[in-house]
Amino acid sequence: MVHAHADALLADQTATLAVLADLRQPEVILGHPALRRLLDLARPVAVLLVAVLHFIRDAEDPAGIVARLRDTMAPGSYLVISHATGDFHPHAGAKVTEVYGQASAPLVLRSRRQIERFFDGFDLVEPGLVEPAAWRPDEQGQGHRGRGAGGCYSGVGRQPASARAGPRDEPGSQGLAGQEHPRW
Ligand SMILES: C[S@@+](CC[C@H](N)C(=O)[O-])C[C@H]1O[C@@H](n2cnc3c(N)ncnc32)[C@H](O)[C@@H]1O
Repeated sequence: MVHAHADALLADQTATLAVLADLRQPEVILGHPALRRLLDLARPVAVLLVAVLHFIRDAEDPAGIVARLRDTMAPGSYLVISHATGDFHPHAGAKVTEVYGQASAPLVLRSRRQIERFFDGFDLVEPGLVEPAAWRPDEQGQGHRGRGAGGCYSGVGRQPASARAGPRDEPGSQGLAGQEHPRW
């Protein structure tokens, strides 16, 4: 339903699109024809994984998913992650996790160190992995609301210039080999 609404709202847009896909299948997203038409992945892009990675279980390899995205991102690209944590309020975190246990997707709280590992291969932009309100707060606006207010960490990583080794055509990668962007 959300996707149908997005398509309707974006019908006359040429610079925005919505792709219906599961993050656990990054190849489907990266190989989507509409995405490939819109984005030139040989140039820097920004990937925002905002409040979504905590719905991916460890067994579903969230780090591998991020790494697959990272390996298609040109030098100078940015990765934004926000992720729920129990670091600040472990008791409340456990309760929320329990409630999500009855939902269609689990909530996987992760520690600062675990979330930081998702930025492997990126340079973390200052101030690093912090609570969302502490990431360069606007003193004129709401600013930092206090430690642990959101139960969440946020960070921004930048793909360094030396990160990309070259072509990456993997077996079973949905036919990306030989297509218009040779670095895929
Ligand atoms: C808390 S919302 C955040 C939405 C948006 N990023 C934002 O900040 O407003 C989490 C979103 O992740 C989506 N989601 C959960 N698991 C997903 C998955 N495996 N693949 C793609 N999207 C997923 C949910 O449908 C939901 O829209």
